[in-house]
Amino acid sequence: MRKKLNIGDKTGRRVSIIGCGNIGISLLLGLLRGQTIPAENITATRRNIRELDYLKEYGVRLMADNLSAIKESDLIIIAVKPYNIVNVLEELKDHLNPGKQLVVSVTAGVPISKIEEVIGSRVPIFRAMPNISASVGKSVTCICHNEAKRKEIESVVSLFDIVGTTMIIDEDLMESATILGACGIAYVLRFIRAMIQGGIQIGFDATTASAIVNQTVKGAAELLIERHQHPEFEIDKVTTPKGCTIVGLNEMEHNGFSSSLIKGLVASFDKIEK
Ligand SMILES: NC(=O)c1ccc[n+]([C@@H]2O[C@H](COP(=O)([O-])OP(=O)(O)OC[C@H]3O[C@@H](n4cnc5c(N)ncnc54)[C@H](OP(=O)(O)O)[C@@H]3O)[C@@H](O)[C@H]2O)c1
Repeated sequence: MRKKLNIGDKTGRRVSIIGCGNIGISLLLGLLRGQTIPAENITATRRNIRELDYLKEYGVRLMADNLSAIKESDLIIIAVKPYNIVNVLEELKDHLNPGKQLVVSVTAGVPISKIEEVIGSRVPIFRAMPNISASVGKSVTCICHNEAKRKEIESVVSLFDIVGTTMIIDEDLMESATILGACGIAYVLRFIRAMIQGGIQIGFDATTASAIVNQTVKGAAELLIERHQHPEFEIDKVTTPKGCTIVGLNEMEHNGFSSSLIKGLVASFDKIEK
């Protein structure tokens, strides 16, 4: 994992998020939380703009008009669903400023070549795949790009560094990144839910079970991140011979725990590849 660039934001750059739904709002909240880019330099759009009324108190600019939104923007994040992206790009294409603006698509499954087909390649184009924990500054965002200058790449990377950690990857791994990082958070959340249900069965109320499980999962992840260890290395420390942990783990494996996770992940990948 790269170190954060942490170049701050002395540039006064402006960001617009076109199509502010689930992931757009997560990014918006993460940017606000990061306090690097002033709220008034962030614009969010969607057609049913009243749905974003609750964000007014943060001081961000909210509008339904994409063209007004991008007018002053240096970074234009497109966060619409795949079936809407071509229409949005068609709308924007004659109003982009190649010397000044960068386009970043977080739309899953739409290659840079397809975006170039609509808006050309004069404006640098990035694909980024964050996840919803961007809202709490904990996303991992995989990024790829077409021909872009070092400064432009740094600009996009430093933006996503505000909402978590970032990695530059080859575009042909972008679908894998979508599954592992963006869909991945749902797999982990389902795992957490199951742990909580188990915790309730063995005696805890839901609130206490959630508190124990959430912190345990956070601790497990931080252990691996900080110590750069393989999970099995840490598991060995918990599994006393003939003890309760190994009995439970083996029972889970007999019931297909790892296998079902891998199969589910591959099923998601097969679906995105179609
Ligand atoms: N959700 C995630 O965890 C996640 C993570 C990474 C990437 N992604 C990708 O990001 C994309 C969006 O996903 P999502 O879950 O955020 O979907 P979403 O909640 O449906 O958000 C998309 C937003 O786009 C708006 N929109 C549609 N057409 C528009 C237009 N012409 N102009 C302006 N706004 C427009 C929609 O609002 P209106 O109908 O009001 O316009 C909607 O709020 C998908 O490709 C997804 O794969 C999602």
